[in-house]
Amino acid sequence: MKNERIGIIGFGSIGQEIYKKISKKIINGYSIVGIFSDDIDSKNISKKIKCKSFEELLKKKPNIIIEAASVKACKDYAEKILIKRIDFICLSVCSFADKSFFIKIFSLNKKIKNKIYIPTGAISGLDAISAASLSKELRNVKLIQRKPPKALMSDIESKKIKKEKILLKSTARRVCKEFPKNSNIAATLAICGIGFDKTKVIVIADPKVKKNIAEIEALGKFGKLRVILENNPSSNPKTSRLTAMSIILSLNKRKSSFLSAF
Ligand SMILES: NC(=O)c1ccc[n+]([C@@H]2O[C@H](COP(=O)([O-])OP(=O)(O)OC[C@H]3O[C@@H](n4cnc5c(N)ncnc54)[C@H](O)[C@@H]3O)[C@@H](O)[C@H]2O)c1
Repeated sequence: MKNERIGIIGFGSIGQEIYKKISKKIINGYSIVGIFSDDIDSKNISKKIKCKSFEELLKKKPNIIIEAASVKACKDYAEKILIKRIDFICLSVCSFADKSFFIKIFSLNKKIKNKIYIPTGAISGLDAISAASLSKELRNVKLIQRKPPKALMSDIESKKIKKEKILLKSTARRVCKEFPKNSNIAATLAICGIGFDKTKVIVIADPKVKKNIAEIEALGKFGKLRVILENNPSSNPKTSRLTAMSIILSLNKRKSSFLSAF
């Protein structure tokens, strides 16, 4: 069977990990046909797959595009990807906290019917959250994000933080706007659960921790859930190592006939 053709937007921490993993054949049935990133000129990859623009990436005829770049890139290209009937794997999930973008993309997707994937990223417990939300049995969902200060702010600012500090306590919608590079898990949780306005999020800068810690608490008729995931950071302190593997998981599930819980 022919390999599916993957295009990547963004060649930073996640883009490079995905490129390595797919090139090493950690998963079969996929090849990378093009990579577009605004810093692609400085990257040491084969000319054959380097794309200097999004349009050049489209010319490589991918049937799946992974966005691993930024909220701006997601907003600029999501619609163009879907209109071309290309399946879309989205990492900059905070984009969907923008109501008009959310409505535009999901109504377009209903018409076009190709797939949008939101990988689990650096969060766990989404299986139970999604199941409980289907039966409207989910009432409260809270996420506590605890990260080393340097993951959340500039080097100079982060050095001033001597003990844990709550940076924001609000809804997922507001947190995604204030911390778009750090709170994609809040957006994923909101989409799987009770939405951006009801999901509560606390963002804490804590100089005592070295990991990106995500703690979810949820309550409803189903019972009570509490999950804590202590993520090791990737080469980008804002991004956890698990994120790249969650994209591989999405690709794996795409081909699998044995569908496990999530
Ligand atoms: N869903 C999740 O759980 C999750 C977890 C971690 C990171 N993320 C998100 O995934 C994205 C990538 O993360 P990363 O750690 O690889 O970031 P990174 O900063 O290491 O790399 C981003 C890359 O994208 C490129 N880029 C940025 N904007 C672009 C644009 N408009 N057009 C073309 N190229 C562009 C940059 O030059 C860079 O090469 C970020 O938006 C991040 O917030 C999501």
